[in-house]
Amino acid sequence: MTDRLTNLKFFIRTFGCQMNESDSERIAGILRQAGAVKADRAEEGDILIVNTCAVRNKSEEKLYSYLGRLSRLKREKPVQVGVTGCVAQLRGSELLKKKFDIDFILGPDTYGQLPHIIKKGLAEKYISTSWSKDWQETPPDLILRESSVSAYVTIMEGCNNFCAYCIVPFTRGREKCRPLRSVLAEVSILADRGYKEIQLLGQNVNSYRDPDSGRGFAELLEEVSSIDGIAWVRFLTSHPKNFGLEIGEVMARTKKICRQLHLPLQSGSTAILKKMKRGYTKDDYLDKVAWLRQLMPEISLSTDIIVGFPGESAKDFKETLDVMESVRFANIFSFRYSPRPLTEASALKDDVPFEIKTQRLEEAQRLQRKIQIENHRLQVGRVMPVLCLGKGKKTPQLYAGRNEGYQVVNFHSEKDCREKFVDVRITSCGPYSLSGERIDSR
Ligand code: 5AD
Ligand code: SF4
Repeated sequence: MTDRLTNLKFFIRTFGCQMNESDSERIAGILRQAGAVKADRAEEGDILIVNTCAVRNKSEEKLYSYLGRLSRLKREKPVQVGVTGCVAQLRGSELLKKKFDIDFILGPDTYGQLPHIIKKGLAEKYISTSWSKDWQETPPDLILRESSVSAYVTIMEGCNNFCAYCIVPFTRGREKCRPLRSVLAEVSILADRGYKEIQLLGQNVNSYRDPDSGRGFAELLEEVSSIDGIAWVRFLTSHPKNFGLEIGEVMARTKKICRQLHLPLQSGSTAILKKMKRGYTKDDYLDKVAWLRQLMPEISLSTDIIVGFPGESAKDFKETLDVMESVRFANIFSFRYSPRPLTEASALKDDVPFEIKTQRLEEAQRLQRKIQIENHRLQVGRVMPVLCLGKGKKTPQLYAGRNEGYQVVNFHSEKDCREKFVDVRITSCGPYSLSGERIDSR
């Protein structure tokens, strides 16, 4: 075989979202199949890959500082450094003009080429940022998964929404949906292997359509949930404008679909939402939340918030805080707005000063911390199923997992319960996690 990478070790550093984590598992699988072995630290690797995120300016800055570190490593031993993912797609050959010593640059649609270009020895720098119009299937067995109990399953790629601030449609391209039969085949294989939790991934999963039959996301959810062996199904990311009645109804009637939803709000001001081109108003969002809570009173909601979008006044920001107070999210991911290349908003004046953005960010985070502590206190004394995902490093009997609402639960257990479902009684809490004792031995 020409593209064997025997005796080589690879290390992948992932920045960004679950989609990138999932892509890294795919890259790892492709390299493993070619004969390379995974290293735990960059210092041990011969092939060093940075899988990048371009969504915010800060993510790109973090990448450049990391590449600086890898370039220093490269001076000490002969390694190949590759940049993959969204920044690779966005910046392409521009990256070579920077001071880093990069050997290859591959956009999200080109990972299949990896073994070949690494084997070539890279006499020349290699760049590929081509797109394929159709879904590119990765055989499930190729993926080198981090967990053996919880698995990411990508159901679509790309986005057609073009929210004014967002670079994703330019780095990930237009929506491409994976055939339903191949989604179901992968989930069945995972169930046979003992996986208990499936996280369905896509930039805008609610607009999923099976390319063969035209069936939508609600039908996909129902089919995935009917596969024996899978206990919990989650999905990410939803869009308030595409989250239709039928999806909520399937969730409500299907126990296996976790009562948990990430529903990015971005702003609580209708005027800002309009400038962001989000396609819903503050009231639309609140109505959807009220409807979801009526269907599933226990649903745990999380969100994304951008502060300091161009033109955001103190009053607009106050409306974001009002929505947070009223919805009482289980978790928020909050960001200072940063203009991104190619986006519509990058033509607007970035007129909210950095200090004001920072103040607003801190205020939103302070409020959220208070809400989380209050939410968490209500859970003390309850017993809940937790999927154990790992073990504490320092304290051997301390484990960490997530409950159905995707909250982190740290708990004590005498018996090893890694990668199992256990019942945990919550005994205390902090703003970011719950703590408790395992009470069963199932
Ligand atoms: N500036 C700040 N935050 C952004 N996000 C996306 N683009 C930007 C930007 N230009 C945030 C949104 C999105 C999350 C993944 O990142 O909140 O939901
Ligand atoms: Fe970006 Fe909007 Fe698409 Fe989400 S829905 S990926 S924010 S363009």
